[in-house]
Amino acid sequence: MAVATARSPSPAGAVREVKRLKTDHTSTPSQQVQSQSTPIASDNAQPNGSDDSDQPNEAELVEEQMSLPIEFPKTYENELNYRDKLVLAPMVRTGTLPTRLLSLYYGAGLVWSPEVVDKAIIGSERTVDPVTGVITYHKGQGPIFSTHPVEKPYLIFQIGSSDPELAVKAAQIVQQDVSGIDLNCGCPKPFSTHSGMGAALLSTPDILLNILRALLDSIPLPISCKIRLLPTQPSTLFLVSRIIRTGIRNLTVHCRTRDMRPAERALWERLADIVALGKRRGLPVICNGDGDGWTNWEKIRTETNADSVMLARAAERNPSVFLPTGPVCNMTEVVPKLLAIAKHTNNPWGNTKFLLTQFKASPPPISNMSKQERKQAAEIVSKSKTVEQVAEGLKIPIDNVKDVFDAIVKKIAQRDRADTNIWEERHEAKVNGQVIDEPATVDGEAEVDGFEVGVGQAQS
Ligand SMILES: Cc1cc2nc3c(=O)[nH]c(=O)nc-3n(C[C@H](O)[C@H](O)[C@H](O)COP(=O)(O)O)c2cc1C
Repeated sequence: MAVATARSPSPAGAVREVKRLKTDHTSTPSQQVQSQSTPIASDNAQPNGSDDSDQPNEAELVEEQMSLPIEFPKTYENELNYRDKLVLAPMVRTGTLPTRLLSLYYGAGLVWSPEVVDKAIIGSERTVDPVTGVITYHKGQGPIFSTHPVEKPYLIFQIGSSDPELAVKAAQIVQQDVSGIDLNCGCPKPFSTHSGMGAALLSTPDILLNILRALLDSIPLPISCKIRLLPTQPSTLFLVSRIIRTGIRNLTVHCRTRDMRPAERALWERLADIVALGKRRGLPVICNGDGDGWTNWEKIRTETNADSVMLARAAERNPSVFLPTGPVCNMTEVVPKLLAIAKHTNNPWGNTKFLLTQFKASPPPISNMSKQERKQAAEIVSKSKTVEQVAEGLKIPIDNVKDVFDAIVKKIAQRDRADTNIWEERHEAKVNGQVIDEPATVDGEAEVDGFEVGVGQAQS
């Protein structure tokens, strides 16, 4: 068995390697498999499932990867604890500063930024608002990415990239304001496919791995990546075995394949094998897909053995889903805080309105809003053109937004991130009789019409 010596490709080296591999279609599968024993290997080899006895089978390929040393065995001044948490997923449009602050306020263990494409952030200017402390990266027009220092210990910046050098440059722009860098290998949108980013990287593992290597080599922060499942389990495990060999600190798996639609059931049953590989490398694996919060977290953890659970749409519907005692009413509790954050930080109105439209009212006992009241609220949001108009229509006072914002920031600042174990906190809340959950029978997607269940209706 060949044993690799770890070497550290520079971003430029990784780029050259990617260019070479892109044009190298000449090697045979066995040559490709052979070359995987070096850190920068030909990554085009896929378990072919053939019964040609000369070819190593999938399990052998995985074992070979697992026997090789970590390519970048690094330690960091500030390690991130990815375990025992409910975390906020990366979400374009939704995962902006107000959502992340609300999620952290209610107990999210970590928060991912929305995907930001490498070229978008490269060349941006960083400004700090002296009143709010909000840090904004922009190129003259609207903000590309905004953050507040209080979220830094929990904030992972997700990059969209298909180029090691650009990925490193993008990470270097923001590294002073975040605690980790994540590579998006899961977005299936046509844009990703054409650009080679997101889920397209699953089909070009050479590039995927070289981006991770370049980030690991150059960025002084924990590196992670978020993938989807490949169509078959053997090819997924093979890819995972190579990804987790690079030296990343966390792997998140959206338990759907690239072609699966969000409404299709997430394939949790495929995660346990991946988690088992992670455990052999001491690497946490986060389960993503169909997490509802407290109504199904035990099932997910039991079925997958995952270290943490990542929530996207559940947090989009109600960011208080992270509370160990169970979610609270959007209209009375969350919306006032959202409006305060949005007004105080000057969040773009279009985004604030979008966030409001994504909120969904919980059923009793969390919320007692009637259908008529929800419809009225939706209409108010829909017709409003400013935070002030929404606040007036919903009768929410916004004359003390600074106090509300300061209280949110204070609560987040008082948290102890290293010791947070959400499962223990949940257990304690249960033992103390503090838990009020949504009824487990509720299907959050049952009525997708925002006028029926939400605070507002999204504008196209
Ligand atoms: C509005 C929205 C935006 C999203 N943007 C991203 C993104 O920027 N990066 C990413 O990796 N996934 C993105 N996703 C996918 C989610 O992170 C998550 O993988 C997916 O929604 C499945 O989780 P869920 O079942 O908890 O919703 C997005 C999802 C939604 C709903």
